Amino acid sequence: MQIFNTINELQKVLAGWRESQQTIGFVATMGGLHLGHLSLIKLAKNQADRVLVSIFVNPTQFAADEDFESYPRTLAADLEQLKKLGVDGIFTPTIEQIYPQGKGFERNQFGEKKYLFEILCGKTRPHFFFGVLQVVKRLFEIIKPDVAIFGQKDYQQLQIIKQFSSNIEIISAEILREKNGLAMSTRNQYLSPDERKIAGKLYEILSQLADGKLQITSAKVALKQHFSLDYLEILDANSLEKISPKTSKIAILSAVFLGKTRLIDNIITEQKFENLGEKNV
Ligand code: PAJ
Repeated sequence: MQIFNTINELQKVLAGWRESQQTIGFVATMGGLHLGHLSLIKLAKNQADRVLVSIFVNPTQFAADEDFESYPRTLAADLEQLKKLGVDGIFTPTIEQIYPQGKGFERNQFGEKKYLFEILCGKTRPHFFFGVLQVVKRLFEIIKPDVAIFGQKDYQQLQIIKQFSSNIEIISAEILREKNGLAMSTRNQYLSPDERKIAGKLYEILSQLADGKLQITSAKVALKQHFSLDYLEILDANSLEKISPKTSKIAILSAVFLGKTRLIDNIITEQKFENLGEKNV
């Protein structure tokens, strides 16, 4: 396993892999690795000859009052886990290498798809998806992978990356969960043991909604018993627009605050519009 601190070192090795006709699978992370991340890497190993993982806490996706400084940085433990999995390379760039022109992000013209940046998590975190797309595009430009794996856990992020990375195959990976249903996340480290128990309620309530045991209004009431609700929405899973008779797959998406920690989760189901019932939309 090789660790690359600079773009030059990395690109030399990538060129060698390409010369010998090997495909490159890429997993972007901010470190603080957990089993969810590792499942993406396993998937990448099945999809490509070589697997490259980036560890970079991207400053442009954090607002000034967010946790950029305190975000868990656990490089030694991360490298240990990646070595066991047989990853070929790790890219750990500096901020200067990723953003040689300074780290202000550009809100490019996204045309009619701009709404994707502004709904759901984009309402509470208006800077977020612009920063994510900026860093992912930059990493793609440096690495030029054949395939890249992203988690369904961050569904809106996944949809935005799919929309704006037409030349790279994007594969979606299932959500890995704790025993109580809580979606694994680096930020779960912020939860106290009591909060961890409560956090499982988010998936429980989303599942009841997906199974038709709750409707959206009662699901919101149930969420508010445990959390401060940011949003709960049911949208077309392909477009993230309102459900229409053309909808074949729905996305149930939610974000809540538990103390200071923000949790997000979702369920994607094949449920048909007719089965959903108007009250839910
Ligand atoms: P990070 O939160 O480190 O997540 C890296 C990848 O792991 C993302 O694709 C995310 O969806 C996936 N992931 C996280 N938790 C998961 C879980 N429980 N099950 C399955 N996959 C999971 O997402 C980011 O970093 C950043 O925004 C990034 C894309 C790296 C850009 O900076």
